[in-house]
Amino acid sequence: MNNNTWYAVGAAVSLAPGMVKQFKVAGRELAVYRTKADDTNESRLVAFSNRCPHRGTSMSLGKVTGKCLRCPMHGWLFQSDGQCVSVPSEQDDRAFGKRFHIPHYPAMESYGLIWIFVGSDLELLRRGVPAISELTQPGWRARYWPSIWQANQTRAIEILLDFSHVAYVHPMFGQPSEPLIPEYKIERNVEEWLPSWRAAVPFRPPRNLLQRLLRSDVSVSGQLTHYFPNFTRLDVSLGSQGNAHRLIIFEAYTPLSQEETKIHRIVLRNFFPMSAFDFITRLIVKEVIEQDRRLVVTQKPTVAPFQDPTQEKHARADALQLNYRKQMKRSFKDGTLLDLQGDSPLPYLRHQPSV
Ligand code: FES
Ligand SMILES: [Fe+2]
Repeated sequence: MNNNTWYAVGAAVSLAPGMVKQFKVAGRELAVYRTKADDTNESRLVAFSNRCPHRGTSMSLGKVTGKCLRCPMHGWLFQSDGQCVSVPSEQDDRAFGKRFHIPHYPAMESYGLIWIFVGSDLELLRRGVPAISELTQPGWRARYWPSIWQANQTRAIEILLDFSHVAYVHPMFGQPSEPLIPEYKIERNVEEWLPSWRAAVPFRPPRNLLQRLLRSDVSVSGQLTHYFPNFTRLDVSLGSQGNAHRLIIFEAYTPLSQEETKIHRIVLRNFFPMSAFDFITRLIVKEVIEQDRRLVVTQKPTVAPFQDPTQEKHARADALQLNYRKQMKRSFKDGTLLDLQGDSPLPYLRHQPSV
């Protein structure tokens, strides 16, 4: 797992001020809460380890008290930097609490999602998450449709970096009689503060419902952008150039465990902005995602074998995936994406966590 990156955990609206919830990230259980608004009407997000240092109770069952979170079992009170500020059973409860901390993690809100950083490399923390400029542009409608796959994040990410499956898996966008993927160029560092790669290919879909809806029978082009390690963006243009309907599927992958990945998906479109069309867009996206999911969960080994390229065979069309594997291998070798302080044993890592 790449701990030194931002992980989305859920929709920001699902956590009102004064609420606390449990989330799982990279094998860790977290208690995430939003402080109650103060005089300046500000409330902020705080992420703690979900385990109370006293007796290991779930802090997510606790109570938000101003800027602090109180454990439900014996009432120990922790402020937002993790410092314990009260042990109610003790006479000098404040002074007594000073010697205890609960691990806490950087948290932020962006694009309507809550993001947590569970790593330790502040340089990588500062990179933030990829920009989605369309979210603030007029004419775009955005929807958040997450899903959970019983698959390792490496496999979930790779299917998005895969052009050649489209002809066989997605009859809406491709067809087996048109399987050829032209040689494509990979553009590097499309976003300067995040390592990123981009490539585009055209597809020739059959004349189908989508094209009829859009009154277009010209080609579909797909552009994939990969922001290393765990963000992808698919831009689909449907229709004639200059007059294209555009669909963007931005995905942020959060490993819940080795075998389970939550895909936080923001779908944007610049056509049919009325809410009634959300339903149809969602049906289409859901179907396309399901066509991928049912195959990805069967892949073996469950973790894409990025350490040893000879374990699988490769085609020219796999260049974007191979680039991902190369970056993964490199970052595991130099340790940049790994938080060695991690607390979950991860069998495939070259470095085992130290605790
Ligand atoms: S278990 Fe949390 S205060 Fe005792
Ligand atoms: Fe797919």
